Amino acid sequence: MSVTIKSAREIELMREAGKILAKTHEELAKALKPGMTTWDIDHLGEEIIRSYGCIPSFNNYNGYPASICVSVNDEVVHGIPSRKHFIEEGDIVSLDAGVIYKGYHSDAARTYGIGEISPEAGRLIEVTKQSFFEGIKFAKAGNPLNLVGHGIGSHLHEDPEVPNFAGRLRGLKPRPGMTLAIEPMINAGTPEVVWLDDDWTVVTEDGALSAHYENTVLITEGEPELLSLVSEAH
Ligand code: MF3
Ligand code: CO
Repeated sequence: MSVTIKSAREIELMREAGKILAKTHEELAKALKPGMTTWDIDHLGEEIIRSYGCIPSFNNYNGYPASICVSVNDEVVHGIPSRKHFIEEGDIVSLDAGVIYKGYHSDAARTYGIGEISPEAGRLIEVTKQSFFEGIKFAKAGNPLNLVGHGIGSHLHEDPEVPNFAGRLRGLKPRPGMTLAIEPMINAGTPEVVWLDDDWTVVTEDGALSAHYENTVLITEGEPELLSLVSEAH
């Protein structure tokens, strides 16, 4: 699939999708508490997304069995919600969600601490968020892409691939009208990860904590516009 440059109409739909997703994350953040299961979080997330007239894009995406990826502690990404997994005080929980509004996608992730968390866990969450904001300083027309994520639009995953790390090859140069999901994941220990037998959940090999932060971003002539982080939603 080739890289798409979005029309003004498409950008408007993606703004709306992003706004709804930002609100979904805010509502989920308020609801998080110890004793909930990761299934409860998924169920609530799906309800919120549908209440805005959107479709949860992850549900059944390549067979993924839920609407929200809930990744706890050493789970890096794509954790599968479970009725048996209770979240506890001191956990860190990454919620990755995607919505489709009138055919257009938005994809965003946040990591939260449950109750009081260790200083190390708090720092990890902050650094992960910061690395997103440092990264998007380079998400400008003409700068080769070496961030984390993927194109997004009328499909959840579009070209270009946005590499996870600085590679030897310089990536494609973003152009105004491109929309990207940029999603750093940071491990507190080593970068090594293991894929669990459920075929989805990625965990850190050393059992250390991991955090995730993601937004859908529009490349413009100037500063990138954060479609899934909207001030009105605050
Ligand atoms: N943000 C995730 C990603 O880009 C969304 C996909 S989750 C899936 O990998 F479950 F739908 F696959
Ligand atoms: Co994504």
